[in-house]
Amino acid sequence: KKITIAIDGFSSTGKSTVAKRLAKELNYVYVDTGAMYRAVTLYMMRKVFVSDGSFDEEAIIRHLPFINLKFHFNEDLGFGEMYLNAENVEKEIRYMEVSNQVSKVAAVPQVRKMLVEQQKEMGKDKGVIMDGRDIGTVVFPDAELKIFMTASTEERATRRFDELKSRGDEVEYEEVLKNVKDRDFVDSTREDSPLRKAEDAVEIDTSGISVEEVYQKMLHLAKD
Ligand code: C5P
Repeated sequence: KKITIAIDGFSSTGKSTVAKRLAKELNYVYVDTGAMYRAVTLYMMRKVFVSDGSFDEEAIIRHLPFINLKFHFNEDLGFGEMYLNAENVEKEIRYMEVSNQVSKVAAVPQVRKMLVEQQKEMGKDKGVIMDGRDIGTVVFPDAELKIFMTASTEERATRRFDELKSRGDEVEYEEVLKNVKDRDFVDSTREDSPLRKAEDAVEIDTSGISVEEVYQKMLHLAKD
């Protein structure tokens, strides 16, 4: 019987890698909610942001109705690529420029409200694996399986750095480490922080264990 699987945790804990594999194995739909926050951020960077990186929250709210987000499944990649108003932005939303701004845009309540509604709709049928920060707490508080992934800051920065390098990005490790720390701070300290471990979530600390091990653990939990 198909269920809903909510995977939450800090960035670069290997959430998406494992979630994608699990979705393939179980024949589930995978939804990367971080991609949605990133796409909204990219749109706002183009339309609303001032050159110094500041923005008017009211302007963000006014632009929201003009954003259409869709995942189009790519057979070769094996997951859905993010489309922003019919433009494939899968690559662009992963750039550091976007990573550096996303937490601020994700903190706007109206942005969260819009995306949470869309996510609820996307997962209304069972057989969905959704990864993010607030899936087990806000989007699907009734999910049958909730996983909360953690890893040390340095471990996550190393992962992110390797990932960016492998894509040919010119980045410094120090910059990546700072970005991971900053996002953790913004994501976890604000009043309505999206990143909270649901009471009934299973915590997996991925520091020092292989992706394969994490995957096997999760597969076991999903099949239970
Ligand atoms: O998962 P990823 O690192 O791509 O998410 C990018 C950012 O989007 C996070 O740092 C966080 O600010 C925001 N986010 C969120 N709620 C989610 C998923 C992502 O606020 N469910």
